Amino acid sequence: MIENDIDNPHYSVLMAEVLDTLAAKDNEVIVDGTFGAGGYSRNILNAAEVKLYAIDRDPNAVAAADAMKAEYTDRFEFLQGQFGDMQSLLADVGVERVDGIVLDIGISSMQIDQAERGFSFMREGPLDMRMSVAGMSAADVVNKFSEAELARIFYILGDEKRSYPIAGAIVRQRAEKPFETTLELANLVENTIKKGKSKIHVATKVFQALRIFVNQELAELVKSLNAAEALLKPGGRLVIVSFHSLEDRIVKNFLKSRTGNVSAPSRHVMVVEELAQSSFTLINRKVITATKEELEVNIRSRSAKLRAAMRTDAPSFDEYFNPLPEMPNLA
Ligand SMILES: C[S@@+](CC[C@H](N)C(=O)[O-])C[C@H]1O[C@@H](n2cnc3c(N)ncnc32)[C@H](O)[C@@H]1O
Repeated sequence: MIENDIDNPHYSVLMAEVLDTLAAKDNEVIVDGTFGAGGYSRNILNAAEVKLYAIDRDPNAVAAADAMKAEYTDRFEFLQGQFGDMQSLLADVGVERVDGIVLDIGISSMQIDQAERGFSFMREGPLDMRMSVAGMSAADVVNKFSEAELARIFYILGDEKRSYPIAGAIVRQRAEKPFETTLELANLVENTIKKGKSKIHVATKVFQALRIFVNQELAELVKSLNAAEALLKPGGRLVIVSFHSLEDRIVKNFLKSRTGNVSAPSRHVMVVEELAQSSFTLINRKVITATKEELEVNIRSRSAKLRAAMRTDAPSFDEYFNPLPEMPNLA
């Protein structure tokens, strides 16, 4: 019986589909790289007698993890940190190989709903957006990066076509007074660009781009995919739910390259290099999205995409998978 109530602080998306593709079995070792409110973790622990390692970078996830630890005792361990570092986080607790890895990337409802975290352009709060509550905040980026760097962040990570006018307006306004709050930035975007026909708020793309940049979300995803290839045992499953087309494309292209589903070498090429053996096979050929029933209870599921693959017994590819666009340095 799946536990997933819309009244929970965070409704877990595609829960049944995650459990189905992960197919956890007794005595397996499973990693939930994005613990959040623990919805996936709890249901995986209930589905089979597994040992589950949960990871989250947000210090606010610790309270829910402590409660889960009290309930599931030594079947559950929480590791605070970034899933991109999962290999070293697991090595620190003596785990070298695992049977399943699940990632539900993005932010939780708790994070977006808490004004003081600064993720939402609808709620006044500090312009923060750091999931780990450490490092450079969104305000630091907006106040310190050059116009060209800001424009690139908005264009590449937010697909914001009006990135230059927005970046220019930011640079002019911050010369008067640095940005401190979410609504200061949202209002500036609103006053700079005309609302088109789109139903989404004009600041959506800028906020999304800043969030992805501040948390280095694409780099984290790429690191985790390479780590999963090394960590998963033959037959181990990788299940990833993403919400953004940039992320889904990265997962799709990783699996394409690792399942041997790459375009054949040209017949004019004289030296045909031996193609590496696939390190994954696809569990679902087509991407899985939310059912009509799920969309009726949780509209936030509308952009969720699930891809899942099984590790083969072939060695990991020599080549590190790295499709990242060139971006300004976050330092
Ligand atoms: C969508 S929520 C996960 C919800 C969870 N599946 C559930 O059922 O409750 C995403 C969580 O992943 C965490 N997160 C995002 N990126 C992370 C990263 N690179 N490393 C560790 N945790 C991350 C966020 O802090 C957030 O708590």
